[in-house]
Amino acid sequence: MKSFDVVVIGGGPAGYIAAIRAAQLGLSAACIDEWKSADGKPMLGGTCTNVGCIPSKALLQSSENYEQAAHGFAEHGVRVTGLELDLAQMLKRKDKVVKSSNDGILYLFKKNKVTFFHGRGSFGGSASEILVSGAQSETLAAKNVIIATGSSPRSLPGADFDEKLILSNTGALAMPEVPKRLGVIGAGVIGLEMGSVWRRLGSEVVILEALPTFLGAADEQIAKEAWKVFARQGLGIELGVTISKVSTEKKSVSVQYISSDISPKTLECDRLVVSIGRVANTAGLNAAAVGLKLDERGFVAVDDDCRSNLPGVWAVGDVVRGPMLAHKGEEEGVAVAERIVGQKPHVNFDTIPWVIYTTPEIAWVGKTEQQLKGEGKASGVDYRVGTFPFSANARARALGDTSGLVKFISNKKTDQILGVHIIGPMASELIAEAVVAMEFGAAAEDIGMICHAHPSLSEAMKDAALAVDKRALNI
Ligand code: NAI
Repeated sequence: MKSFDVVVIGGGPAGYIAAIRAAQLGLSAACIDEWKSADGKPMLGGTCTNVGCIPSKALLQSSENYEQAAHGFAEHGVRVTGLELDLAQMLKRKDKVVKSSNDGILYLFKKNKVTFFHGRGSFGGSASEILVSGAQSETLAAKNVIIATGSSPRSLPGADFDEKLILSNTGALAMPEVPKRLGVIGAGVIGLEMGSVWRRLGSEVVILEALPTFLGAADEQIAKEAWKVFARQGLGIELGVTISKVSTEKKSVSVQYISSDISPKTLECDRLVVSIGRVANTAGLNAAAVGLKLDERGFVAVDDDCRSNLPGVWAVGDVVRGPMLAHKGEEEGVAVAERIVGQKPHVNFDTIPWVIYTTPEIAWVGKTEQQLKGEGKASGVDYRVGTFPFSANARARALGDTSGLVKFISNKKTDQILGVHIIGPMASELIAEAVVAMEFGAAAEDIGMICHAHPSLSEAMKDAALAVDKRALNI
């Protein structure tokens, strides 16, 4: 039996990063992952790398290029004739991007001396015995186990995924032709990103959302702006719907639903993406046999430090409470490895950035205005707001991408930044400055006093921070 200080089950961002950090700290570390390509080769990186963050960003970029060539270049004086979509090449490129990430993780394992087992991991006779089955078959002794098994798409009752007509994120990233009519259930992150990709490539997209508010987790002002921009782009979104039935024909899907005005409606589409959230992957772990506790929603029950109820067994990433974000899982993975060697790391769940990679991008960190209004009553936190539109930013004008705004919210008394919300070009990159500022407990004025390169989109951050004190310079 092979023995390790740490055995990580799952090679997604939470798991592979935990294994690497453990190895860096001098522990003997193994990682087990079963994902494989059509020819049986390991595909490390989990959902994020294989059917999530990475391939979706590849397709978002490719489809944006196509849309720009069709509708954006002419304004720049670049005329395109005979524009054609080569979807097969677009998907091939996406697969290549994924493969280079898979291989990159294998390289990192070699470099850091993490032992990789290709197969499925589960508990054996005890919590310190891990069985590997599948492509490889082994029994491992583990002083510590880190469960990082991730999540799977939640299906609609009565509409199982067949990945041909009813698609999860996996099928939504691999449609062999552009559907004329694409239906999407759930206007969350996946629904908006995948809806955007296929709309740009030519589909008529209709997204049906159960909640009566659009992007309820985002700041209301930003969500309103997003709603306007997406409507202009032709993304059809219906709120407050209740799906009553989904039925499939040979080549189409019919969705019956009750809309917000209580009238029964039917959406006919060629393919349907169901993106209504995800469930934790705990099946097949043999959790019950070793007494591993799950919470009422099926996640591995852990404390703030990712400790399960079993000594030496930890869990990180999508399989535990908190947002299902790759970077949240990575932070937890690093922290657990450090806790195992006795360090005292801290994951600040209040400064985890959110990003939606639509055009324009949406990103935020910290509290929304509506949260503060609600909390304000209870806790007495009074706040000030500063906003700055990208239309007043010179770099955005030069880029030809002036939609959206930056919004800073700070404590009225101390000026400490409480939240930053962006909709606009490169919001995913700009938000990093806000995360750093909040980690250091900065005031909005601190950002206003820092020199930002001109011309750059980041100046919109500075101006929005100055706007908190009504002293923005460029508007
Ligand atoms: P989500 O939680 O973002 O959105 C699901 C949406 O579906 C919600 O708006 C919900 O109200 C709606 N919904 C739920 N049941 C419904 C029903 N029966 N009918 C109609 N609407 C319904 O989940 P999503 O988009 O599936 O993504 C899964 C996870 O993956 C998320 O937790 C997300 O954080 C993560 N992810 C993150 C990305 C990013 O960071 N850019 C990209 C893609 C996914």
